[in-house]
Amino acid sequence: MIKTLMRRPTTGLHGAITVPGDKSISHRGLILGAISTGTTRLTHFLTAADCLSTLNALHALGVPIQRDGTTVTVTGQGLHGLRAANQPLDMGNAGTATRLMTGLLAGQNFDATLVGDASLSQRPMARVQQPLATMGAQIDLTAGHLPMQIHGRALHATHVEMQVASAQVKSSLILAALQADGPSTIVEKLPTRDHTERLLRAFGGDLTTAADGHTITVQPQPHLTGQNITVPGDVSSAAFFLTAASIVPGSQITLKDVGLNPTRTGIIDVLQRMGGHLDIRPTDQPGEPLGDITVSAAQLHSIKLTAADIPAVIDELPLVALLAATADGVSEISGAEELRVKETDRIATIVTELRKLGVQITEKPDGFIIDGRPTWRVTDAQFDSHGDHRIGMMMAIAALRLTTPTTLADAGAINISYPSFFDDLTHLTTETEATHA
Ligand code: S3P
Repeated sequence: MIKTLMRRPTTGLHGAITVPGDKSISHRGLILGAISTGTTRLTHFLTAADCLSTLNALHALGVPIQRDGTTVTVTGQGLHGLRAANQPLDMGNAGTATRLMTGLLAGQNFDATLVGDASLSQRPMARVQQPLATMGAQIDLTAGHLPMQIHGRALHATHVEMQVASAQVKSSLILAALQADGPSTIVEKLPTRDHTERLLRAFGGDLTTAADGHTITVQPQPHLTGQNITVPGDVSSAAFFLTAASIVPGSQITLKDVGLNPTRTGIIDVLQRMGGHLDIRPTDQPGEPLGDITVSAAQLHSIKLTAADIPAVIDELPLVALLAATADGVSEISGAEELRVKETDRIATIVTELRKLGVQITEKPDGFIIDGRPTWRVTDAQFDSHGDHRIGMMMAIAALRLTTPTTLADAGAINISYPSFFDDLTHLTTETEATHA
Protein backbone atom coordinates (compact mmCIF):
# COMPACT_ATOMS: atom_id res chain seq x y z
CA MET A 1 0.00 0.00 0.00
CA ILE A 2 1.34 3.45 -1.00
CA LYS A 3 0.06 6.21 1.22
CA THR A 4 0.11 9.94 0.60
CA LEU A 5 1.56 11.47 3.74
CA MET A 6 0.20 14.45 5.60
CA ARG A 7 2.17 17.66 5.08
CA ARG A 8 3.01 20.32 7.60
CA PRO A 9 -0.10 21.23 9.61
CA THR A 10 -0.23 25.03 9.54
CA THR A 11 -0.90 25.47 13.25
CA GLY A 12 0.99 22.37 14.42
CA LEU A 13 -0.38 19.37 16.33
CA HIS A 14 -2.95 19.91 19.07
CA GLY A 15 -5.26 17.87 21.29
CA ALA A 16 -4.95 14.73 23.42
CA ILE A 17 -4.84 11.02 22.65
CA THR A 18 -4.41 7.74 24.50
CA VAL A 19 -1.96 5.59 22.55
CA PRO A 20 -2.61 1.83 22.19
CA GLY A 21 -1.38 -0.63 24.79
CA ASP A 22 2.27 -1.52 25.24
CA LYS A 23 3.49 -4.20 22.84
CA SER A 24 6.06 -5.75 25.19
CA ILE A 25 3.58 -5.97 28.08
CA SER A 26 0.78 -7.32 25.86
CA HIS A 27 2.97 -10.24 24.69
CA ARG A 28 4.08 -11.01 28.23
CA GLY A 29 0.60 -10.72 29.72
CA LEU A 30 -0.68 -13.35 27.30
CA ILE A 31 2.17 -15.77 27.97
CA LEU A 32 2.06 -15.45 31.75
CA GLY A 33 -1.72 -15.72 31.67
CA ALA A 34 -1.42 -18.94 29.66
CA ILE A 35 0.91 -20.62 32.21
CA SER A 36 -1.00 -19.47 35.29
CA THR A 37 -4.00 -21.09 36.86
CA GLY A 38 -7.29 -19.20 36.71
CA THR A 39 -8.30 -16.34 34.48
CA THR A 40 -6.17 -13.43 33.32
CA ARG A 41 -7.88 -10.34 31.96
CA LEU A 42 -5.78 -7.90 29.96
CA THR A 43 -7.39 -4.50 29.42
CA HIS A 44 -6.04 -2.02 26.82
CA PHE A 45 -4.27 -4.97 25.15
CA LEU A 46 -2.47 -4.09 21.89
CA THR A 47 -4.50 -5.66 19.08
CA ALA A 48 -1.72 -5.22 16.50
CA ALA A 49 -0.30 -7.94 14.24
CA ASP A 50 2.70 -8.71 16.47
CA CYS A 51 0.69 -9.43 19.61
CA LEU A 52 -1.88 -11.41 17.62
CA SER A 53 1.01 -13.71 16.60
CA THR A 54 1.54 -14.55 20.28
CA LEU A 55 -2.20 -14.87 20.86
CA ASN A 56 -2.64 -17.26 17.92
CA ALA A 57 0.40 -19.34 18.92
CA LEU A 58 -0.90 -19.80 22.46
CA HIS A 59 -4.33 -20.63 21.12
CA ALA A 60 -2.78 -23.32 18.90
CA LEU A 61 -1.07 -24.70 22.03
CA GLY A 62 -4.46 -25.31 23.63
CA VAL A 63 -4.99 -22.06 25.57
CA PRO A 64 -8.55 -20.69 25.38
CA ILE A 65 -8.32 -16.93 24.70
CA GLN A 66 -11.26 -14.60 24.09
CA ARG A 67 -10.92 -11.12 22.64
CA ASP A 68 -13.50 -8.37 22.91
CA GLY A 69 -12.09 -5.17 21.44
CA THR A 70 -8.96 -4.43 23.44
CA THR A 71 -9.93 -6.71 26.35
CA VAL A 72 -8.48 -10.20 26.26
CA THR A 73 -9.38 -13.05 28.59
CA VAL A 74 -6.93 -15.93 28.92
CA THR A 75 -7.91 -19.20 30.60
CA GLY A 76 -4.65 -20.30 32.21
CA GLN A 77 -3.45 -23.90 31.76
CA GLY A 78 -0.66 -23.90 34.35
CA LEU A 79 3.08 -24.20 33.66
CA HIS A 80 2.74 -27.76 32.34
CA GLY A 81 -0.71 -27.56 30.76
CA LEU A 82 0.12 -26.57 27.17
CA ARG A 83 -0.31 -29.21 24.48
CA ALA A 84 1.40 -29.79 21.14
CA ALA A 85 0.11 -27.77 18.19
CA ASN A 86 -0.86 -29.77 15.13
CA GLN A 87 1.00 -27.44 12.78
CA PRO A 88 4.00 -25.04 12.81
CA LEU A 89 3.46 -21.89 14.87
CA ASP A 90 3.53 -18.84 12.58
CA MET A 91 5.18 -15.99 14.47
CA GLY A 92 4.66 -13.51 11.61
CA ASN A 93 7.00 -10.51 12.01
CA ALA A 94 7.30 -10.79 15.81
CA GLY A 95 10.80 -11.17 17.25
CA THR A 96 9.56 -10.80 20.82
CA ALA A 97 6.94 -13.52 20.38
CA THR A 98 9.51 -15.85 18.84
CA ARG A 99 12.25 -15.43 21.45
CA LEU A 100 9.86 -15.61 24.42
CA MET A 101 7.94 -18.61 23.10
CA THR A 102 11.24 -20.42 22.44
CA GLY A 103 12.15 -20.23 26.12
CA LEU A 104 8.71 -21.36 27.16
CA LEU A 105 8.50 -24.25 24.68
CA ALA A 106 12.05 -25.50 25.38
CA GLY A 107 10.87 -26.91 28.72
CA GLN A 108 7.55 -28.45 27.64
CA ASN A 109 7.09 -32.18 27.09
CA PHE A 110 6.35 -31.91 23.36
CA ASP A 111 8.02 -30.61 20.20
CA ALA A 112 7.16 -27.42 18.32
CA THR A 113 8.14 -25.77 15.05
CA LEU A 114 8.33 -21.98 14.74
CA VAL A 115 8.21 -20.17 11.41
CA GLY A 116 7.95 -16.49 10.48
CA ASP A 117 7.79 -13.98 7.65
CA ALA A 118 10.77 -13.05 5.43
CA SER A 119 12.08 -10.39 7.84
CA LEU A 120 11.77 -12.56 10.97
CA SER A 121 13.38 -15.47 9.10
CA GLN A 122 16.56 -13.38 8.75
CA ARG A 123 16.84 -12.41 12.41
CA PRO A 124 19.38 -14.16 14.65
CA MET A 125 18.03 -16.97 16.81
CA ALA A 126 21.32 -18.45 18.09
CA ARG A 127 21.13 -15.70 20.72
CA VAL A 128 18.38 -17.71 22.43
CA GLN A 129 19.41 -21.20 21.30
CA GLN A 130 22.92 -20.98 22.79
CA PRO A 131 22.11 -19.80 26.33
CA LEU A 132 19.07 -22.10 26.47
CA ALA A 133 21.42 -25.00 25.57
CA THR A 134 23.17 -24.44 28.94
CA MET A 135 19.90 -25.67 30.49
CA GLY A 136 19.84 -28.75 28.25
CA ALA A 137 17.39 -27.29 25.74
CA GLN A 138 17.48 -28.87 22.30
CA ILE A 139 16.67 -26.41 19.54
CA ASP A 140 17.47 -26.87 15.86
CA LEU A 141 17.83 -23.74 13.75
CA THR A 142 18.12 -23.28 10.00
CA ALA A 143 21.55 -21.67 9.57
CA GLY A 144 20.98 -19.68 12.77
CA HIS A 145 17.45 -18.64 11.83
CA LEU A 146 13.84 -19.76 11.57
CA PRO A 147 12.39 -22.27 10.83
CA MET A 148 13.21 -23.59 14.29
CA GLN A 149 12.45 -26.99 15.80
CA ILE A 150 12.16 -27.06 19.56
CA HIS A 151 12.46 -30.52 21.12
CA GLY A 152 10.80 -29.93 24.47
CA ARG A 153 12.45 -31.62 27.45
CA ALA A 154 13.16 -31.31 31.18
CA LEU A 155 15.52 -28.38 31.79
CA HIS A 156 18.34 -27.90 34.30
CA ALA A 157 19.15 -24.85 36.38
CA THR A 158 21.79 -22.59 34.87
CA HIS A 159 24.06 -19.60 35.38
CA VAL A 160 24.23 -17.59 32.16
CA GLU A 161 26.22 -14.47 31.31
CA MET A 162 24.35 -12.84 28.45
CA GLN A 163 26.33 -11.86 25.35
CA VAL A 164 23.84 -9.25 24.09
CA ALA A 165 21.81 -6.57 25.89
CA SER A 166 18.39 -7.98 24.98
CA ALA A 167 15.17 -8.14 26.95
CA GLN A 168 13.89 -10.76 24.55
CA VAL A 169 16.80 -13.09 25.31
CA LYS A 170 16.55 -12.38 29.04
CA SER A 171 12.82 -13.09 29.02
CA SER A 172 13.31 -16.29 27.05
CA LEU A 173 15.78 -17.47 29.69
CA ILE A 174 13.45 -16.50 32.52
CA LEU A 175 10.56 -18.46 30.97
CA ALA A 176 12.82 -21.50 30.57
CA ALA A 177 14.22 -21.10 34.11
CA LEU A 178 10.67 -21.32 35.51
CA GLN A 179 10.63 -24.92 34.29
CA ALA A 180 14.12 -25.94 35.52
CA ASP A 181 15.16 -28.27 38.35
CA GLY A 182 16.65 -25.54 40.56
CA PRO A 183 17.22 -21.77 40.82
CA SER A 184 18.90 -20.11 37.81
CA THR A 185 20.87 -16.90 37.57
CA ILE A 186 20.96 -14.69 34.50
CA VAL A 187 23.53 -11.90 34.25
CA GLU A 188 22.65 -9.09 31.85
CA LYS A 189 25.28 -7.28 29.82
CA LEU A 190 23.36 -4.04 30.40
CA PRO A 191 20.01 -3.69 32.19
CA THR A 192 17.11 -3.92 29.70
CA ARG A 193 13.32 -3.52 29.96
CA ASP A 194 12.11 -5.39 33.03
CA HIS A 195 8.46 -6.06 32.17
CA THR A 196 8.86 -9.85 32.46
CA GLU A 197 10.32 -9.53 35.95
CA ARG A 198 7.60 -7.14 37.15
CA LEU A 199 4.74 -9.15 35.66
CA LEU A 200 6.10 -12.47 36.88
CA ARG A 201 6.18 -11.12 40.42
CA ALA A 202 2.61 -9.82 40.01
CA PHE A 203 1.51 -13.34 38.98
CA GLY A 204 3.16 -14.81 42.12
CA GLY A 205 6.58 -15.81 40.73
CA ASP A 206 9.74 -15.63 42.83
CA LEU A 207 12.40 -13.66 41.00
CA THR A 208 14.95 -11.26 42.42
CA THR A 209 17.19 -8.68 40.79
CA ALA A 210 20.45 -7.99 42.64
CA ALA A 211 21.37 -4.46 43.68
CA ASP A 212 23.81 -4.29 40.73
CA GLY A 213 20.72 -4.31 38.47
CA HIS A 214 22.38 -6.94 36.26
CA THR A 215 21.85 -10.28 38.02
CA ILE A 216 18.47 -11.99 38.12
CA THR A 217 17.73 -15.12 40.15
CA VAL A 218 14.69 -17.16 39.12
CA GLN A 219 13.11 -19.75 41.42
CA PRO A 220 11.64 -22.67 39.44
CA GLN A 221 8.22 -24.27 39.35
CA PRO A 222 6.21 -21.33 40.76
CA HIS A 223 2.49 -21.48 41.19
CA LEU A 224 1.31 -18.55 39.08
CA THR A 225 -2.19 -17.14 39.49
CA GLY A 226 -4.17 -15.28 36.82
CA GLN A 227 -4.36 -11.49 37.20
CA ASN A 228 -6.30 -8.48 35.95
CA ILE A 229 -3.79 -6.26 34.18
CA THR A 230 -4.37 -2.86 32.60
CA VAL A 231 -1.73 -2.47 29.91
CA PRO A 232 -0.26 1.07 29.89
CA GLY A 233 -0.02 3.05 26.66
CA ASP A 234 3.08 2.10 24.68
CA VAL A 235 5.79 4.72 25.20
CA SER A 236 7.32 3.51 21.92
CA SER A 237 4.10 4.49 20.12
CA ALA A 238 3.77 7.74 22.11
CA ALA A 239 7.33 8.52 21.01
CA PHE A 240 6.18 9.23 17.42
CA PHE A 241 3.93 12.01 18.65
CA LEU A 242 6.41 13.26 21.28
CA THR A 243 8.75 13.71 18.32
CA ALA A 244 6.11 15.22 16.03
CA ALA A 245 5.03 17.84 18.57
CA SER A 246 8.67 18.68 19.35
CA ILE A 247 9.66 19.31 15.71
CA VAL A 248 6.48 20.79 14.18
CA PRO A 249 6.29 24.50 15.06
CA GLY A 250 3.23 25.64 17.01
CA SER A 251 2.43 22.19 18.45
CA GLN A 252 1.24 21.30 21.92
CA ILE A 253 -0.31 17.88 22.62
CA THR A 254 -1.03 15.60 25.56
CA LEU A 255 -0.51 11.84 25.57
CA LYS A 256 -2.51 10.12 28.29
CA ASP A 257 -1.71 7.01 30.38
CA VAL A 258 1.69 6.38 28.80
CA GLY A 259 3.91 3.69 30.35
CA LEU A 260 6.77 5.35 32.23
CA ASN A 261 8.84 2.31 33.20
CA PRO A 262 12.36 3.78 33.57
CA THR A 263 13.86 0.95 31.47
CA ARG A 264 11.78 2.27 28.54
CA THR A 265 11.79 6.06 28.88
CA GLY A 266 15.11 6.78 27.16
CA ILE A 267 13.28 8.86 24.54
CA ILE A 268 11.97 11.18 27.27
CA ASP A 269 15.49 11.59 28.69
CA VAL A 270 16.86 12.22 25.19
CA LEU A 271 14.23 14.86 24.45
CA GLN A 272 14.89 16.57 27.76
CA ARG A 273 18.65 16.53 27.16
CA MET A 274 18.07 18.01 23.68
CA GLY A 275 16.07 20.91 25.17
CA GLY A 276 12.57 19.54 24.48
CA HIS A 277 9.55 20.99 26.30
CA LEU A 278 7.88 18.19 28.26
CA ASP A 279 5.63 18.17 31.28
CA ILE A 280 5.31 14.68 32.80
CA ARG A 281 2.61 13.94 35.36
CA PRO A 282 2.93 10.41 36.81
CA THR A 283 -0.27 8.69 37.95
CA ASP A 284 -0.27 7.16 41.41
CA GLN A 285 -1.35 3.52 40.96
CA PRO A 286 0.02 0.00 41.49
CA GLY A 287 1.74 -1.98 38.70
CA GLU A 288 3.79 -0.54 35.86
CA PRO A 289 4.45 3.23 36.25
CA LEU A 290 2.40 5.44 33.93
CA GLY A 291 1.32 9.04 33.50
CA ASP A 292 0.32 11.86 31.16
CA ILE A 293 2.84 13.78 29.08
CA THR A 294 2.32 17.24 27.56
CA VAL A 295 4.85 18.19 24.93
CA SER A 296 5.27 21.32 22.85
CA ALA A 297 7.51 22.42 20.02
CA ALA A 298 11.09 23.44 20.85
CA GLN A 299 14.36 24.24 19.12
CA LEU A 300 16.47 21.20 19.94
CA HIS A 301 20.22 20.80 20.47
CA SER A 302 22.44 17.95 19.35
CA ILE A 303 23.05 14.87 21.52
CA LYS A 304 25.61 12.09 21.95
CA LEU A 305 24.50 8.59 22.94
CA THR A 306 26.78 5.67 23.80
CA ALA A 307 26.24 1.95 24.51
CA ALA A 308 24.92 2.39 28.07
CA ASP A 309 22.20 4.77 26.82
CA ILE A 310 20.94 2.42 24.12
CA PRO A 311 18.71 -0.25 25.78
CA ALA A 312 16.21 2.29 27.17
CA VAL A 313 15.82 3.94 23.74
CA ILE A 314 16.52 1.01 21.39
CA ASP A 315 13.20 1.13 19.52
CA GLU A 316 13.14 4.94 19.42
CA LEU A 317 16.54 5.42 17.72
CA PRO A 318 14.89 6.13 14.34
CA LEU A 319 13.15 9.02 16.10
CA VAL A 320 16.35 10.16 17.79
CA ALA A 321 17.83 10.37 14.28
CA LEU A 322 14.88 12.49 13.16
CA LEU A 323 15.17 14.78 16.17
CA ALA A 324 18.91 15.13 15.54
CA ALA A 325 18.19 16.03 11.90
CA THR A 326 16.34 19.17 13.08
CA ALA A 327 18.66 20.03 15.99
CA ASP A 328 21.48 22.59 16.21
CA GLY A 329 24.86 20.91 15.83
CA VAL A 330 26.23 17.42 15.24
CA SER A 331 24.72 14.41 17.01
CA GLU A 332 26.42 11.04 17.32
CA ILE A 333 24.84 7.68 18.19
CA SER A 334 27.30 4.86 19.04
CA GLY A 335 27.04 1.39 20.55
CA ALA A 336 23.77 0.73 18.72
CA GLU A 337 24.87 -2.22 16.54
CA GLU A 338 21.74 -4.10 17.70
CA LEU A 339 19.83 -1.86 15.27
CA ARG A 340 21.28 -3.94 12.46
CA VAL A 341 19.24 -7.02 13.50
CA LYS A 342 15.81 -5.43 14.02
CA GLU A 343 12.84 -5.77 11.62
CA THR A 344 15.25 -4.25 9.08
CA ASP A 345 18.88 -3.24 9.37
CA ARG A 346 17.71 0.02 10.92
CA ILE A 347 21.04 1.80 10.60
CA ALA A 348 20.85 1.23 6.83
CA THR A 349 17.15 2.06 6.51
CA ILE A 350 17.42 5.21 8.67
CA VAL A 351 20.33 6.43 6.54
CA THR A 352 18.56 5.61 3.24
CA GLU A 353 15.32 7.31 4.21
CA LEU A 354 16.76 10.39 5.92
CA ARG A 355 19.02 11.04 2.91
CA LYS A 356 15.82 11.43 0.85
CA LEU A 357 15.15 14.50 3.03
CA GLY A 358 18.62 15.86 2.32
CA VAL A 359 19.74 15.12 5.89
CA GLN A 360 23.53 15.07 6.39
CA ILE A 361 23.93 11.59 7.91
CA THR A 362 27.03 9.40 8.08
CA GLU A 363 26.64 5.66 8.62
CA LYS A 364 28.84 3.96 11.24
CA PRO A 365 28.97 0.21 11.99
CA ASP A 366 27.29 0.86 15.34
CA GLY A 367 25.23 4.00 14.73
CA PHE A 368 25.30 7.27 12.83
CA ILE A 369 26.43 10.91 12.89
CA ILE A 370 23.92 13.62 11.93
CA ASP A 371 24.56 17.28 11.23
CA GLY A 372 21.18 18.87 11.98
CA ARG A 373 19.52 21.62 9.90
CA PRO A 374 16.42 23.79 10.49
CA THR A 375 15.17 22.96 6.98
CA TRP A 376 15.79 20.02 4.68
CA ARG A 377 16.08 19.83 0.90
CA VAL A 378 14.06 16.83 -0.28
CA THR A 379 15.83 14.80 -2.97
CA ASP A 380 13.32 11.92 -3.24
CA ALA A 381 9.68 12.32 -2.18
CA GLN A 382 8.93 8.59 -2.32
CA PHE A 383 9.63 7.23 1.12
CA ASP A 384 9.63 3.53 1.96
CA SER A 385 8.99 1.68 5.22
CA HIS A 386 11.09 -1.25 3.91
CA GLY A 387 8.46 -3.37 5.65
CA ASP A 388 9.54 -1.96 9.03
CA HIS A 389 6.76 -0.36 11.09
CA ARG A 390 8.99 2.04 12.97
CA ILE A 391 10.78 3.28 9.82
CA GLY A 392 7.39 3.88 8.15
CA MET A 393 6.09 5.90 11.11
CA MET A 394 9.35 7.86 11.39
CA MET A 395 8.97 9.02 7.78
CA ALA A 396 5.28 9.89 8.28
CA ILE A 397 6.40 12.14 11.16
CA ALA A 398 9.23 13.61 9.07
CA ALA A 399 6.68 14.55 6.37
CA LEU A 400 4.98 16.84 8.92
CA ARG A 401 7.98 19.20 8.58
CA LEU A 402 7.52 19.45 4.81
CA THR A 403 5.30 21.58 2.61
CA THR A 404 5.85 19.42 -0.49
CA PRO A 405 3.89 16.19 -1.18
CA THR A 406 5.44 12.85 -0.23
CA THR A 407 4.35 9.20 -0.26
CA LEU A 408 5.16 6.13 1.81
CA ALA A 409 5.53 2.71 0.17
CA ASP A 410 4.58 -0.40 2.17
CA ALA A 411 2.67 1.74 4.68
CA GLY A 412 0.78 -1.39 5.78
CA ALA A 413 3.83 -2.42 7.83
CA ILE A 414 2.67 0.10 10.44
CA ASN A 415 -0.06 -2.38 11.46
CA ILE A 416 2.66 -4.47 13.11
CA SER A 417 2.59 -2.25 16.20
CA TYR A 418 0.21 0.70 15.66
CA PRO A 419 -2.81 0.03 13.40
CA SER A 420 -4.51 3.31 14.44
CA PHE A 421 -1.40 5.45 13.87
CA PHE A 422 -2.85 7.49 10.99
CA ASP A 423 -6.18 7.95 12.83
CA ASP A 424 -4.32 9.36 15.84
CA LEU A 425 -2.20 11.56 13.57
CA THR A 426 -5.34 12.90 11.87
CA HIS A 427 -6.89 13.57 15.26
CA LEU A 428 -3.89 15.64 16.34
CA THR A 429 -3.74 17.74 13.18
CA THR A 430 -6.23 20.17 11.76
CA GLU A 431 -5.61 18.95 8.23
CA THR A 432 -7.10 15.71 6.93
CA GLU A 433 -5.36 15.38 3.63
CA ALA A 434 -3.94 11.86 4.15
CA THR A 435 -5.48 9.59 1.54
CA HIS A 436 -4.89 6.10 0.28
CA ALA A 437 -3.38 6.13 -3.18
C1 S3P B 1 11.56 -6.17 23.27
C2 S3P B 1 12.93 -6.04 23.40
C3 S3P B 1 13.77 -5.31 22.44
C4 S3P B 1 12.93 -4.37 21.58
C5 S3P B 1 11.71 -5.05 21.04
C6 S3P B 1 10.82 -5.53 22.18
C7 S3P B 1 10.83 -6.95 24.27
O1 S3P B 1 14.39 -6.24 21.57
O2 S3P B 1 13.71 -3.88 20.53
O3 S3P B 1 10.96 -4.16 20.23
O4 S3P B 1 9.59 -6.83 24.34
O5 S3P B 1 11.48 -7.69 25.03
P1 S3P B 1 15.81 -6.92 21.96
O6 S3P B 1 15.59 -7.83 23.09
O7 S3P B 1 16.23 -7.66 20.71
O8 S3P B 1 16.72 -5.77 22.29
